[in-house]
Parts: sequence; structure tokens; C-alpha cells
Amino acid sequence: NVGKATNIKFHDGMVPRETKEQLLGQKGVVLWFTGLSGSGKSTVACTLEHALAARGKMTVLLDGDNVRHGLNKNLGFSAEDREENIRRIGEVSKLFAESGVITLTSFISPYRKDRESVRARMAPGDFLECYMRIPIEVCEQRDPKGLYKAARAGKIKNFTGIDDPYEEPLSPELVVDAKDEAGNMQSAEDMAATIMQYLEA
Ligand code: PPS
Repeated sequence: NVGKATNIKFHDGMVPRETKEQLLGQKGVVLWFTGLSGSGKSTVACTLEHALAARGKMTVLLDGDNVRHGLNKNLGFSAEDREENIRRIGEVSKLFAESGVITLTSFISPYRKDRESVRARMAPGDFLECYMRIPIEVCEQRDPKGLYKAARAGKIKNFTGIDDPYEEPLSPELVVDAKDEAGNMQSAEDMAATIMQYLEA
């Protein structure tokens, strides 16, 4: 029934975004992590949220597995369901960002058009796409939930990167690589620190 309601009218509130941002002493923004399963989206988002809290910043973290237990529990992993998953998260993120909250989202969000639709719904500058550019070999070797193994064995169908697509961002605001410039593997703390520098700037 998405988009089916009629006779609805948009109401403006009496407390503008600027007031809310002043109350919180920060600017609302959406930091949208995207990348393969096992690329470290959730771990880095968690680490970053912790660092932001230590700086007195108000955040919310929306995470794939968690949101799929509640708000999106009626959705699976077909292209249509992933699209609806991302659309809803996009709308929730927009509400938070417009209330001055630093919103971290951690979803595979494999389709470029779905991410771009979310971006298009936001005010300019509100949507920061952070691509976790971790090679599938690394993700598969980590396989923290055993899902790649199950997908290779044919026990999970439509698994992103195996028998379902992942479309890389074309011009993300941020790219996080497995290795640093010197070729050393980066920890979640290193990655979060790089993103923090970007947010501070
Ligand atoms: S999506 O594509 O953005 O709608 O996916 P998302 O909401 O981020 O959910 C991804 C997590 O669901 C688990 N899982 C799968 N991922 C990909 N493909 C398939 N078929 C699948 N089935 C279950 C998996 O644990 C993902 O979590 P992360 O944290 O990314 O590993």
C-alpha cells in the first residue's frame, strides 16, 4: 500500500530544525555506510558512535540486523524488499537528521538507485555516503556469521556478492579501504578515526 494514501496534507512544525540543532549544539546529518556483509559497517559505525558520544554528540545508529527485527521485520532480501528496506531507513534517517541528530546507518544497501533515492529525499549536504570498500575475499574470510559459507553451499539464496549484486557507489563522500596508504590492515578504530576527521572538518 506504499504511496496509496489520499487526502493527506503536510504540516510544518513550530520548532524549526535550526532551533533543534542549537539545543543539541550540533548539526544533523546522515552518515550512510554501504558495503558487503562482513565489510565492517556495523563495527565501524559502533566505534564511531562511541567516539561521537565521548565528544558530547547525540547520535542514533540504525543497523541492518536490528532494524530487520523490528520496523522491517516483514521484509526479506528480494530486490523489491531491499528497496523498501532502504526507503524506510532513508525516511527514518531523514526525520532524525532534521531533528539535529547525527544518524549512522549500517545497511548493505546494494542498489545504487536505492541509495540515490535516499540522497534525493534529503536536504543538500545531509547525506554522506561512506563506502566500505573491502574486497569480497576479505569479507568472506572473516565471515563472522558463517553466511558466506552457507551461501556458497547453496543454503542461502540471493546472498549479496555471491548470487546477488552489489553496486559500488560512483561518487561517495567517503571511501574506507581495508588497508591504509602504507599497505597495513586498518582496525575499526583507525577507520572510525578517519571518518571522525572528515566529520570534524
Ligand atoms: S539490504 O540489502 O541493505 O537490504 O540488507 P541489510 O538490511 O543491510 O541486511 C543485511 C544483513 O542480513 C543478513 N543477511 C543477508 N545479507 C545479504 N544477502 C542475504 N541474502 C542475506 N540474508 C541474511 C546479513 O547478516 C547482513 O548483515 P551484515 O551486517 O551486512 O553482515
